[in-house]
Amino acid sequence: MPTPVNKPLKIILGVTGGIAAYKIPMLLRLLKKADADVQVIMTPSAERFVTPETLSVLSEKQVLCDFFDPATGMWNNHVDLGLWADAILIAPATATTIGKMVHGIADNLLLATHLSARCPVIIAPAMDLDMYAHESVTENLKTLESRGVHIIPAEDGPLASGLSGPGRLPEPETLFAEFMKIMNPELPLKGKNIMVSAGPTFEPIDPVRFIGNHSSGKMGYAIADAFAKKGANVTLVSGPVSLQTPKNVSRIDVQTAEEMREACLKESTNVDIIVMAAAVADYKVETRAQLKIKKEEDLTLSLVKNPDILQELGKAKTSSQTLIGFALETNNGYDYAKDKVVRKNLDFIVLNSLADEGAGFGHDTNKVYLFDKTGSEKAYPLMSKKMVADIIVKQAISYHFSGNFADI
Ligand code: CTP
Repeated sequence: MPTPVNKPLKIILGVTGGIAAYKIPMLLRLLKKADADVQVIMTPSAERFVTPETLSVLSEKQVLCDFFDPATGMWNNHVDLGLWADAILIAPATATTIGKMVHGIADNLLLATHLSARCPVIIAPAMDLDMYAHESVTENLKTLESRGVHIIPAEDGPLASGLSGPGRLPEPETLFAEFMKIMNPELPLKGKNIMVSAGPTFEPIDPVRFIGNHSSGKMGYAIADAFAKKGANVTLVSGPVSLQTPKNVSRIDVQTAEEMREACLKESTNVDIIVMAAAVADYKVETRAQLKIKKEEDLTLSLVKNPDILQELGKAKTSSQTLIGFALETNNGYDYAKDKVVRKNLDFIVLNSLADEGAGFGHDTNKVYLFDKTGSEKAYPLMSKKMVADIIVKQAISYHFSGNFADI
């Protein structure tokens, strides 16, 4: 079910009584970071595994545990709750809750809300391996699935009982990613604001000449296009290139590094993901001639450093922003790229090495390596810039929502 643009997704997070409930505060943080409006409902036995106080602080809402509020005696209206929600996510879902869902039992607020809901229901079962493999549970899960309930399968691994096998609740990042995939299979970035810079900058020498570089802008434009196709609101800050603006992308044209800096800093205040793919000129002429320089003897130009836009964006980065830089190197690429991730406070960097044939300026293909701030690395073969853009966008989405690279 698509999320309306700029409207937070309203989620009922149902927590039932299993030891895996200790993972739910982290899942809740990820949902809140994605701007969701989360109402937690706990079953009575869940309170033994995680406190309502913890979930209330993280959700910024009172956690509901009963049909009646013990403090005021007011009725928690499960019908209104069920109709309010865009999605119900139950994690962990115990064998008891699963069994009661199958039979329409409504002996707690969560189960009653589930019966009143018209939205998608997603459950993440977690229990000991023999329970998970028991015919009654597998049959119940099949029944729920046949009624349209989405099931995030339990994982294989060490269990609280000391045994090891299928039944383990996936880690919060996986739960979150699976949930988002179910809710927004095509447009996971709907409502998100993205800024991409692309192309070269031209630094004027006089009214007719400039210092520039070979950047065609193709990589940055392909990235902006791939983000727009995922439903994001994309702003492309573009140096001088001869490319068409991708569909559903708004474009700001600039010439110089100073102009690019001004546009990027202005746009960056309200964005979720930034990709600096532009080949910004590192130097500009100290004093630009007002009139065309006439050819005389040899000419010496005095160059001064341009501002480092990416570095400034890194300094201003907020905890909810994901910042991605590019590095184009001729030698020692890995070391320079790893150093830049840390020095410029990036989440990850995309390295294209001019040492690799078919990579970098002018080609329709590229070969990239990704390095993140924690030391994780990804290497990809030579492929079209469009395919590289798709990979960068998928990794940006994964990083933005879970703080890790995806397994691609
Ligand atoms: N960049 C920037 N502003 C600059 C120069 C570069 O924002 N004045 C950004 C580019 O868009 C790219 C990244 O910084 O995302 C890396 O650019 P690069 O020129 O490879 O790195 P530098 O940090 O300039 O390092 P060096 O030139 O020393 O390799």
